[in-house]
Amino acid sequence: EKGLRVQDKGFLNTAVIHSTITYIDGEAGVLRYRGYPIEQLAERSNHLETAYLLIYGSLPTKDQSKYWETEILRHGTMHADSEEFFRSFRYDAHPMSMLTSGFSMLGSFYPEANPSLKGQRLYTDGDAASLATMDRQIYRLIGKATTLAAMAYRVRQGRDFVTPPTGLSYTGSFLYQMDHLGEENYVPNPILEKALDVLFLIHADHELNASCTTVLQTGSSLVDPYSAIAAGCASLYGPLHGGANEAVIRMLISIGKPENVPSFIEAVKRREKTLSGFGHRVYKTSDPRSFIVRKTADEVFKVTGKDELLETAMALHDAAMKDEYFIKRKLAPNVDFWSGLIYRAMGFPLDFFPVLFVVPRVVGWLAHWRQMMLQEGGVKIWRPRQVYVGAGKRDYVPADERT
Ligand code: SDX
Repeated sequence: EKGLRVQDKGFLNTAVIHSTITYIDGEAGVLRYRGYPIEQLAERSNHLETAYLLIYGSLPTKDQSKYWETEILRHGTMHADSEEFFRSFRYDAHPMSMLTSGFSMLGSFYPEANPSLKGQRLYTDGDAASLATMDRQIYRLIGKATTLAAMAYRVRQGRDFVTPPTGLSYTGSFLYQMDHLGEENYVPNPILEKALDVLFLIHADHELNASCTTVLQTGSSLVDPYSAIAAGCASLYGPLHGGANEAVIRMLISIGKPENVPSFIEAVKRREKTLSGFGHRVYKTSDPRSFIVRKTADEVFKVTGKDELLETAMALHDAAMKDEYFIKRKLAPNVDFWSGLIYRAMGFPLDFFPVLFVVPRVVGWLAHWRQMMLQEGGVKIWRPRQVYVGAGKRDYVPADERT
């Protein structure tokens, strides 16, 4: 192909869209949602309000907030048939497999979301009807993300599913459904509820990371948003991406005590081990979210008691930050380095950690999906090119003549 060349492995330096949603400055360690610094939102907003901001572009008025939260919490319940679906998983199925399938199953309950219904214009019309259809899928996906996650958790526990309660906050309702005691008069601990809300907020979006790109690549064929979200969920499952928060804890457990950190660091430098939770494709100084997570961890530990792995994590962090090998490669803690310690202290099982990344990230995926559906000039299917370096033309050889 004339003039085609592989620009860069892994899209190191390829921009595919114009976006007004999230801004990252990797050198300065800056993250803003619709222009608002992540530090201010973490301090003063909450996950659902920030979700509205990411999806619709402005902070909601009080009335808009009330309607938005009511719709999302109202859509938290799942169709009874979904229980049979979840019961078909083995008790030890990885929750991310269950969640990925769960999003796809969810879409089957809403024929109105099926693109073939209204052909190619279901979501791209921009008229009141298609905007309202889009909004309904958004309420359902955000509202049911916590319920699907909680159902996956209950399958692992071999326990009954819990109907989402009324009158609790988004994270309160999630903790209620997750609660391993399933107490009747469950009152979520406000500090843990708030801590999880802050973690959800800072995980909500991160522009064109691997999973968001997957959602847009899939959504560009005008498939329904449930299928596109399921694809994004599959991408986030990988240990290089959302699976890193689980990998960090497994790494800390394998290191054990702080005195084992120096030998682990040497193994990493010999490329025998990876320092999970460090490094980032965009942030080359620091991931601003890691400071917010670190601070939130101290709040949580006041309630749950310190995690014995914290000392090892701090020793590992301090050793890596001083080591030339990591400094030269501009490796610093990312959002995943500390978050696993919080989830562990809150009692979530280890393989559930990536699920806690997916639940809030559904918001960012939907914000980018909606932006693409409404973009100027309509949706173009994403179809990159390749540079072919394989065999030239050759003729078929019958099996008995092959050597
Ligand atoms: C997330 O994109 C996003 O925005 C993602 C995310 C989001 O919110 O969506 O921020 C969430 O996924 C955070 C990242 C979580 N993943 C991990 O913590 C896994 C460990 N990190 C690495 O796998 C790696 O740093 C990546 C995948 C995060 C980034 O990979 P890049 O940009 O492709 O970096 P690279 O492989 O080009 O690394 C550059 C150098 C290499 O050394 P050399 O070959 O040049 O000598 O740094 C080294 C790498 O070997 N390196 C590491 C390292 N990360 C990179 N060496 C040891 N430990 C690491 N963690």
